[in-house]
Amino acid sequence: MKNTLIGMMLCLSATMGAQTMDAFIDSLMARMTLEEKLGQMNQLSVGDVQTGTPLRAETSRLIREGKAGALLNIKGAEKILEVQRMAVEESRLGIPLLVGMDVIHGYETIFPIPLGMAATWDLEAIEESARIAATEASAGGVAWTFSPMVDIALDARWGRQAEGAGEDPYLGALVARAMVRGYQQGPHPILACVKHFALYGAAEGGRDYNTVDMSRLRMYNQYFPPYKAAVEEGAGSVMSSFNIVDGVPATANSWLLDEVLRRQWGFKGFVVSDYASISEMKRHGIGPAVQNAERALKAGTDMDMCSELFVRLPDSLMPWIDRACRRVLEAKWRLGLFENPYRYGDPARVRREVYSRKHRDICRRITAESFVLLRNEGGLLPLERKGTLALIGPLADSRSDVAGSWAFCQDTAKYETLREAFERRLKGKVRVVSCQGSNVLDNHRTQHEVARGHGLIPVPVVDDEKALEEALALAREADVVVMALGETAWMSGEGAARSDLSLPAPQKRLLQAVCALGKPVVLLNFAGRATELSWESEHVPAIMNVWYGSEAGDALCDVLFGEVSPSGRLTVSMPKRTGQEPLYYSILPTGRPMEDNEPDYHVFSTNYVDVTNGALYPFGYGLTYSTFEYGRPSLEGNTLSVRLSNTGGREATEVVQLYIRDREASVSRPKKELKGFQRVTLKAGESRVVKFEITEDLLGYYNNELQWVVDKGEFDLMVGPDSRHLQSVVYRF
Ligand code: NOJ
Repeated sequence: MKNTLIGMMLCLSATMGAQTMDAFIDSLMARMTLEEKLGQMNQLSVGDVQTGTPLRAETSRLIREGKAGALLNIKGAEKILEVQRMAVEESRLGIPLLVGMDVIHGYETIFPIPLGMAATWDLEAIEESARIAATEASAGGVAWTFSPMVDIALDARWGRQAEGAGEDPYLGALVARAMVRGYQQGPHPILACVKHFALYGAAEGGRDYNTVDMSRLRMYNQYFPPYKAAVEEGAGSVMSSFNIVDGVPATANSWLLDEVLRRQWGFKGFVVSDYASISEMKRHGIGPAVQNAERALKAGTDMDMCSELFVRLPDSLMPWIDRACRRVLEAKWRLGLFENPYRYGDPARVRREVYSRKHRDICRRITAESFVLLRNEGGLLPLERKGTLALIGPLADSRSDVAGSWAFCQDTAKYETLREAFERRLKGKVRVVSCQGSNVLDNHRTQHEVARGHGLIPVPVVDDEKALEEALALAREADVVVMALGETAWMSGEGAARSDLSLPAPQKRLLQAVCALGKPVVLLNFAGRATELSWESEHVPAIMNVWYGSEAGDALCDVLFGEVSPSGRLTVSMPKRTGQEPLYYSILPTGRPMEDNEPDYHVFSTNYVDVTNGALYPFGYGLTYSTFEYGRPSLEGNTLSVRLSNTGGREATEVVQLYIRDREASVSRPKKELKGFQRVTLKAGESRVVKFEITEDLLGYYNNELQWVVDKGEFDLMVGPDSRHLQSVVYRF
């Protein structure tokens, strides 16, 4: 009864709020000129983040004239408050600006890249990271983040696999929800922006911005779920993607933006184009420019990010202009900007809360949760605190690479490199010696460009032979060698496709030479995607995937020296060869199937002549410092149970995973799909029965008519530690 009453009151206040908002916007819009309306739909880049240049005089003028309603890439509370003042006090109608920023995995307290955050499989931690990002960003003046990026990425050649949750739609949807909640529902909410709508992650060959062509069946079942989930969770804005969908750029695709997003999913916020994606329509061979803007507007794009084409729309389009302008004003109203235009940007809060001790401690804990231990032969890890440790590799001491890609608000000066963290944490116990050991890439120009292109200091170019000699000398005198290798921050992210996912050549030569010394070697594989570690997995005793972050140095000490047991699990399949891409576990069966790892090649079967099927390290995989055993799963009614026992010598966390296969469907369905998981922490020797409820929504899918259906018949329920090592029971629906 009490709950119903509270629910009714909430509904009532929402309706009253809506009326107030509508009335307010009606009267405001009645006073707006065409130019002022178009101004609200115009977003300009200030350029702080890429170039550090001050606000252009031109931008200030446009703000004063009410011709720019939103900004991006402007940094610093004071500066943002000043432009807000300009808009509020000096423009005719005083409409506040909406200031957006790519706050992707933290503002100044930088969490692991999103792919690493997903590897925690810890939704509370993910939500908390977004809440902390919102707290810091809002203090810094940011009201709107271009996150979460929820594109499913099956092909690791695509550099932006780093920015999402990986290959799985079920996990991706839960992560998307957690992030939207974290941004929008904390004590200092900011507006979330779900991107990139849609299918951006399916770029052919993994080349960024490339062609996408896909069946609707696949869109609905495999690619749409995370976007839809984010919308259902209340995300206030959506960003269109650069790619085409059915031949039409997403930015002007009315089926996508109007039919799917608004009519089918009930989206009520506004749509912003991606950066200049309206003007880029011309490059797709569509045009002319102003007509493209008209197409985008009519399709449902409400704000033009950086094309400056919406401002040229004629008043004959007034019904659509009104619609878009209203949606933008509604977002501003909901953010409370009309009530208090200065609520975002609080220098006192910046001093207190940005990169605070509290945020850093939480970040450190979560960062440690994200590492994925791939191999630990002979229990080399955790390391003992004694003797001499050689820390070698281009990522050992590179300050610019600590935070990872997409960390525009980072303050690198505040972060510790790995070397600094090791020296501080191990002082008096372990002698730490360190060197770079190799170049990042054989192509030195690219080695520079990947960092400089983002205003960062590149890893220095070194003489290969001298660097190797130095590394071998240090390794010889060490008891253990920790190699910090892999991708520098911006070797993943936007525009960072790779055709070869193995360790870059100079780093591989270094690793092979060090391994040849016969010392115990730990490889820390810095990665923004699934990488290929075939040689390494046979020759390097311990391998751990790490995903950057401002507190990575501390978190790595916690895990490497055993204060924390690793608990991350892969959310992408790591290939044996790059040529297997796109590689993902939830494949459809074929009429001539071949199982993973079948040793012999079979003609007329789905396999390669030169590599066995399946991942080297499968989706869901990860080790810890203890061992777990699973009992036989059993089914009682709709409850699946399995006994999990920690059979090792220390407390650790297991991620118990549930996969389902529909055996008798109306269309071909994946051989397995993740449909549940639980992070379970057990003490040494402890056991627990883990239960999963099998509900109808876990069994359904979109059929050929794009209707959601649940088939009568048999399903395999599979449970285990990753997508390959599973025990199954049959379930009848
Ligand atoms: C282009 C990227 O695709 C998008 O993810 C980002 O939010 C915008 N630029 C704004 O920086």
